[in-house]
Amino acid sequence: MIEKNLNQIFQARIDSEEKIEARDWMPEKYRQTLIRQISQHAHSEVVGMLPEGNWITRAPSLRRKVALLAKVQDEAGHGLYLYSAAETLGAKRSDLIQQLLDGTAKYSSIFNYPTLSWADIGAIGWLVDGAAIMNQVMLCRTSYGPYARAMVRICKEESFHQRQGYEIMIALSKGSEEQKAMAQDALNRWWWPSLMMFGPNDAESKHTAQSMAWKIKRKTNDELRQAFVDATVPQAEYLGLTIPDADLKWNEERGHYDFGPIDWDEFWQVVKGYGQCNKERIAARRKAEEEGEWVREAALAYAEKQRIKKENQKTKVA
Ligand SMILES: [Fe+2]
Ligand SMILES: [Fe+2]
Repeated sequence: MIEKNLNQIFQARIDSEEKIEARDWMPEKYRQTLIRQISQHAHSEVVGMLPEGNWITRAPSLRRKVALLAKVQDEAGHGLYLYSAAETLGAKRSDLIQQLLDGTAKYSSIFNYPTLSWADIGAIGWLVDGAAIMNQVMLCRTSYGPYARAMVRICKEESFHQRQGYEIMIALSKGSEEQKAMAQDALNRWWWPSLMMFGPNDAESKHTAQSMAWKIKRKTNDELRQAFVDATVPQAEYLGLTIPDADLKWNEERGHYDFGPIDWDEFWQVVKGYGQCNKERIAARRKAEEEGEWVREAALAYAEKQRIKKENQKTKVA
């Protein structure tokens, strides 16, 4: 009975657009859904550094190197804000990271594709960060306060990432024939995985209905995917590149672009761990975790030393 009333009060707060804060009562499922979503998001930011980090030493100029370095560093920061947001829900960061390393937690399937040429760095910024922005702008208004506030800052940085990538694509597509071919090849390989980033179609998405009711999500996977296609097609046209989809066509009646079917078998293969780079990505994270152990230990020991120092000062004053 009490639980039922609490649930009703909670839903009424959501319906009236109040933000839910860390110490407020919330249904256990709301808490668990958020921990799952926010930690997957954090893992995606951190694993997302790997395909691009691969090109920092090979960026074609100092300016490109500085921009890419800044971008990859931003992604580390996003991961940290998000782990902190998950901690406000009572999750332990070390448990969340362990789930990533064990392979029991997911991260965005897009980061299991390899970055084969410099043009891939352009395509990732343009398409992958572009798709992330669609999702994250919506999350600035998510019902859980700490998650929403983390997203506001993250979105500002994501728009720099998107422009950084698009600028690379402009340079390549206006360059030599060879450079234009590189840009086209990168678009060919990254287009469909980018559309998959929004997740399964609404009819197949098991979490969507509840997440919409709780206003964790405010748009469905298909709505976000459509918005991304509509925004991106004119950008490809400006570059003079061809999106690899024979069915892509403006639909006057709908006021949207129609696009061809997504290869969901490929998506599920990658999600289940059989993508081209799944093993490599997890191995890299495990190595980082092991090699960082002494840093974590040193930081904890230093914090403990500071605590004791403070304590001693207090007793002296008293
Ligand atoms: Fe990010
Ligand atoms: Fe980004």
